[in-house]
Amino acid sequence: MKLTRLTLFATLVLASLATQLPGAGPETVWLSSLDLSPIVQGWGQAQADKAVTGKPLAIGGKKFERGLGTHTDSLVRLRLNGGAERFSAMVGVDDAAGNDHATISFRVIGDGKVLWRTTGMKLGAAARKVDVDVKGVKMLLLIADSRGDISYGHADWADAKLLVTGARPVIAGPPQEDAIILTPKPPRTPRINGARIFGVHPGHPCLFTIPATGDRPMTFAADHLPMGLTVDAQTGQIQGRIEKPGTYAVTLRAANSLGKAKRKLRIVCGETLALTPHMGWNSWYVWENHVTDKIMRDAADAMVSSGMINHGYQYVNIDDCWSVKPGANDTSLGGELRDAQGMVNANPRFPDMKDLTDYIHSKGLKAGIYTSPGPLTCAGHVGAYQHEEQDARRFAEWGYDFLKYDWCSYGRIAPKPSLAQMQEPYRLMGSILRRQDRDLVLNLCQYGMGDVWKWGKEVGGHSWRTAGDLGGSFYGIPGALFRDGFDVYAQKELHKYGGPGAWNDPDYLLLGYLSNWKGATALTPLTPNEQYSHVSLWCLVAAPLIFSGDITRLDDFTLSLLSNDEVIDVDQDPLGKPGRRMAIDGELEVWARDLEDGSMAVGLFNRGEEPATVTARWCDLGLKGGRTVRDLWRQQDLGRFNGEFKALVPRHGVALVRLAPARAKVLAAPKFAEGLP
Ligand code: GLA
Repeated sequence: MKLTRLTLFATLVLASLATQLPGAGPETVWLSSLDLSPIVQGWGQAQADKAVTGKPLAIGGKKFERGLGTHTDSLVRLRLNGGAERFSAMVGVDDAAGNDHATISFRVIGDGKVLWRTTGMKLGAAARKVDVDVKGVKMLLLIADSRGDISYGHADWADAKLLVTGARPVIAGPPQEDAIILTPKPPRTPRINGARIFGVHPGHPCLFTIPATGDRPMTFAADHLPMGLTVDAQTGQIQGRIEKPGTYAVTLRAANSLGKAKRKLRIVCGETLALTPHMGWNSWYVWENHVTDKIMRDAADAMVSSGMINHGYQYVNIDDCWSVKPGANDTSLGGELRDAQGMVNANPRFPDMKDLTDYIHSKGLKAGIYTSPGPLTCAGHVGAYQHEEQDARRFAEWGYDFLKYDWCSYGRIAPKPSLAQMQEPYRLMGSILRRQDRDLVLNLCQYGMGDVWKWGKEVGGHSWRTAGDLGGSFYGIPGALFRDGFDVYAQKELHKYGGPGAWNDPDYLLLGYLSNWKGATALTPLTPNEQYSHVSLWCLVAAPLIFSGDITRLDDFTLSLLSNDEVIDVDQDPLGKPGRRMAIDGELEVWARDLEDGSMAVGLFNRGEEPATVTARWCDLGLKGGRTVRDLWRQQDLGRFNGEFKALVPRHGVALVRLAPARAKVLAAPKFAEGLP
């Protein structure tokens, strides 16, 4: 009996202990014990109990057994669902970072509220302690960033742990968003789109295809064309040569069975090409070193069949890998580097370059090519070094209209280039191209060295890359978009440099199917909202709109991003004044661009991890009085506003609007525009 009582008592105690156990005291969960694969970062992969370099974690001379080794800009999304009590860690720059280039900020954000932050951390500084209450927090974000320049941003969350009372935390990937198409379908009646101004050199062949949406068949006409030009009524291609310099005000016309449309076009015959940023497609980010003649022809076909040509896209550009690759085992890349006259040869993947450009031109499109001022291109193919004159002549003979000139191995010729040495190859090619008997647009690709925006135009460039490769690392694209887009443009004040004839180029539109650099293609890692931000920012800063995803495999969402005529109108605005950041409030930024008709394009961006209300204040924009506001992605008027316009903007998203002076007196109080993308 005694025994039975005792047994019963023991059983009860054990049973009550068992039910109490989970609540008996918080459990320590080391972050490094979780699955780290969803962590997003600017370079490499997050490491458990090691620095990003794979070496032991160490900050300010002190070693740590446990923790996370990340690389800026990194984001750890911890789903806690209210089951944790405290988060703690020792943060700092890892001792193995190599040099003291990076300055890192660390932030801990709980359900959108900053719980802890530290800024200005440098290599060698002692670790700083974070220890915060996270009771009730559902989503905890750990962010390490070195805004503007991520080099050597080895950010450690040493000893990172959670005291957990409920469910085990999980590291989550970026939120899944629906790809919502905002761009309305163009009407079936004719509408003329794209650039309103177009530059051509006197006496050179001219090709301008009237971009028009609407049902086919469609017929075209152009009033007051300058002498030497004619328009093809069926294709809308304007061709010929203008001998006499001047500005010609032409009226373009398009008609189909449902209606007709007209639009003004200024043709400026003179010294300046590229009066609006280039629009087109480039092979690099989807085809990289597999590009062939067939791929280029298919791209030209797709430019037409997808309708992109009807929105103003015109260049079809081959990137690297069309010339012979010295020492290649693959015979399709081999052959004689140059012919007997020293003129560059294409590799066997491009059997007849002239025939290829004829094909592209026959579609009403223009053709682009690529080389390097060095002996080799970045992918190790023949470059133009010491053959600049011959190669430029060859490109002109082949019928090319555009040249991307990529620094690459020129670093061997000028290892530590002075400013004059940086300029020299571009100045040389600029002057050679100007002497050809056709118009060739020159795109400088040297990743922003020597503040190229200050001299790119003077050396003959029509655009210049402002930073490194936006898509150099597939999973790094979202971080690069913010860094090389927003941060570089704001910090370097690039709006001061671009303009008609010479544009800042933050690299291509990385949408749709891209190479994942592992032999396959994958859909862009940008979320739908990031894609809206990408295109909107490019249009606000007057960047070239060169799509570099698979143009033969355009899903409806990607096509909708590339073909919104009111958004493209911002990019192609004839005033050619690049926009800039007008206001910043933490992660919320307002960018604006003056347009020729006196209106203003404004982007309300949310770079934060949670939805937020972004306010565009007239005082920040230099405006007074009432403005009518139009949502450009939806192509809808939102009404009249006075003093400010607010929008609820999702994570990494944008509201892109156009503000026009309101004629009538404004009585309405500021309205809250909900539900913008
Ligand atoms: C560099 C350029 C890229 C691309 C590749 C080709 O990285 O920046 O845009 O042209 O070379 O090799």
